[in-house]
Amino acid sequence: MTIWVVTRSNLRPFLGWGFFYLRKENDLEKLLDKILDNAIKITETCTSLEDLEKIRVKFLGRKGDVTKVLKEMGSLPVELKPIIGKKANIVRNKIENSIKEIEKKLEAKLLEKKLESEDIDVTIPGVKIERGHQHPISKMIDELNRVFIGMGFMIAEGPEIETVYNNFDALNSPENHPSRSKSDTFYINDNLLLRTQTSPVQIRTMKEQDAPIKIVSPGRCFRFDELDATHSPMFHQIEGLVIDENITMADLKGTLDLVAKRVFGENTKTKFRPHDFPFTEPSAEVDVTCFKCGGKGCKFCSGNGWIEILGCGMVHPKVLEECGIDSEKYSGFAFGMGIDRIAMLKYEIDDIRVLFENDIRFLKQF
Ligand code: DAH
Repeated sequence: MTIWVVTRSNLRPFLGWGFFYLRKENDLEKLLDKILDNAIKITETCTSLEDLEKIRVKFLGRKGDVTKVLKEMGSLPVELKPIIGKKANIVRNKIENSIKEIEKKLEAKLLEKKLESEDIDVTIPGVKIERGHQHPISKMIDELNRVFIGMGFMIAEGPEIETVYNNFDALNSPENHPSRSKSDTFYINDNLLLRTQTSPVQIRTMKEQDAPIKIVSPGRCFRFDELDATHSPMFHQIEGLVIDENITMADLKGTLDLVAKRVFGENTKTKFRPHDFPFTEPSAEVDVTCFKCGGKGCKFCSGNGWIEILGCGMVHPKVLEECGIDSEKYSGFAFGMGIDRIAMLKYEIDDIRVLFENDIRFLKQF
């Protein structure tokens, strides 16, 4: 009877063996059976691919339990070698198969879990991403800018907080002009205010640039007005200024008539009514034929066929001189158009307040 030693087992975590085995040859067979038994049990309760790999290494790896038994075979009697060898191979195959089977199951489970978590149903209609769009006033400003740029104007900018000097004094507004009063203008202090008109951009431009000048300047203005359907303490204007040699009232009329046609339609007619502004002489207000009814009279033009759109005039020589422009050599015209009213007429909005309340349900319509 041969006795041999199986080295200290590293199967301890799985099998609970922690000592040296002294075995007879048929003990090796029993040992293989036990290894198989345990390997199958452990494999079947395994829940992750990582653990399964550990099990494979533990039983079938180079230093694994089955390999160890095979190594011991060298010292077996010749007649026992094929028996134990065969048995070891069977055990190895069974363990391998069991591991493969569990591996497949675990992989299938993983895939199932992944699919469940991704939960993609390609038949569900997509979520529509809403695109924002321009505010009707911004649209109107862009439209006006395009018309003026097409006629050779440059776009100028000025601040909403202005000096009293730029907003009134340099524009030849007399000290006692009603627009200067505290009940009409938002003063910040004695020298600063929220601009009441875009006209101060004229002053800034003339002080910064030499003639010839041809600019428009759209922007926000502020007046101490009660908020109602037609008045807002914040509103928009677009200012225009053209300075060159030999500029006459004919240039003013021709230019504004063309602007009116470009903005309101080719059949639009203009009417120049005498008016009074401190910074222009002569001054006028311009009406256009109603672009809804063509001049017949409708609710948009209050039945009279004409709509007032702007104030204008020949730049007062005092204003030119104040800005360092030689009024003997140069002359020019200027105009200021209310943007909100034009947008309201164009988009058929009958209350100025809705333009600035920013109710998305309203704005969506434009
Ligand atoms: N600033 C004037 C207003 O707010 C409009 C205006 C009139 C502008 C005549 C001008 C102009 O440039 O020449 O009522």
